[in-house]
Amino acid sequence: MSLVDSERRVLSGMRPSGRLHLGHYHGVLKNWVKLQHAYECYFCIVDWHALTTDYEQVGQLSQHVMDMAVDWLAAGVSPSSATLFIQSQVPEHAELHLLLSMICPLSWLERVPSYKEQQEQPRGKDLGTYGFLGYPLLQAADILLYRAGVVPVGADQVAHIEFAREVARRFNHLYGREPGFEDKAEAAIGKLGKKTATLYNNLRKAFQQQGDVEALETARALLKEQQTITLGDKERLFGYLEGGGKVLLPEPQALLGEAPKLPGLDGGKMSNSNGNAIFLRDSAVEVEEKIRRMPTDPARVHRSDPGNPAHCPVWPLHQVYSSEQTCEWVQQGCTSAGIGCLECKGPLIEAVQEELKPLQARAVDYQSDPDLVRRILAEGAERARNEARETLAEVRLAMGLNYR
Ligand code: TRP
Ligand code: SF4
Repeated sequence: MSLVDSERRVLSGMRPSGRLHLGHYHGVLKNWVKLQHAYECYFCIVDWHALTTDYEQVGQLSQHVMDMAVDWLAAGVSPSSATLFIQSQVPEHAELHLLLSMICPLSWLERVPSYKEQQEQPRGKDLGTYGFLGYPLLQAADILLYRAGVVPVGADQVAHIEFAREVARRFNHLYGREPGFEDKAEAAIGKLGKKTATLYNNLRKAFQQQGDVEALETARALLKEQQTITLGDKERLFGYLEGGGKVLLPEPQALLGEAPKLPGLDGGKMSNSNGNAIFLRDSAVEVEEKIRRMPTDPARVHRSDPGNPAHCPVWPLHQVYSSEQTCEWVQQGCTSAGIGCLECKGPLIEAVQEELKPLQARAVDYQSDPDLVRRILAEGAERARNEARETLAEVRLAMGLNYR
């Protein structure tokens, strides 16, 4: 049995939508690149999730997966720091999804916001499918399979993480209780040594009776340090802190990035489908053309008309890319008609091109060697499977699937 340090473990997933753009880079990937040095990270290309909505258009799927892998690598996600893999290459995701489906109330799925919205105002496709209804549970399985405690996501995903927490809690409640759990937990406390045992008991009381969350954290840290007790006892004591049984599947926590939102070329949300994106692999010329064509403050009909950056989609890009000094120059020049819009866009074009240069150099290397990318993903899947198998072995056992 293994005790996973779930608070140090990150899992996140992304749907394979093809080539990634600056919105993905600033909103997600830069954060992943940072996290990979501080946490044990699993990053999953969730191809099954793509099928929950795009089951009719599968011709591009594998190309999208490869393109996304190249862009992750280009952005600096490193296979030596993080585990990158394709969801469908780790079939354990499907088994855990199935097993969790046994205990997941239908009503929980029906009240997930993304499902409710789709039912209230269907957008074209028929998404009255079993797969679409169950997709938050598949996502919960993605996370719980690795016992990941930390899930970096956007605000739109928080409801899904909350759902995963509820599923984990229900699982632990149903199956975390072994016969004689309390006695075993008390016996485990006895093995802690007198001082530690007293501390543990006090902290546990403080949490259970006063809801003192800090005490819970302290108690967890205390347990982590214990070298002399068995892993089984440790798991019991983690579970006993919160009053339940053993914690088989720890509850994950959403980690919201504080990354600035990067709007698209038209000021709306940057996305592939809106046709307003700068892609990570756009050439310097494409970047220049896209930015030059961006609309600006409509008040600036003539070069001599003053404008207001607050009314211009170019301005938020300056706020992400430009120094304080340049921003000052934009404010001044725009409101006084001292600079023209093309002039204003100049430093921005350069900054985006500069940012993309090292990424594109890496992208070229990976793009020209698809076998290397496949190998990275295959190795990632192997590493992921090793973890996944351990969790599943415990889950099977807990659910009575014990044929040894
Ligand atoms: N549902 C997520 C999205 O649409 C993608 C996803 C699937 C995911 N599995 C995950 C995100 C697990 C975080 C963790 O963006
Ligand atoms: Fe926008 Fe710059 Fe033109 Fe002002 S000068 S309207 S901020 S592009």
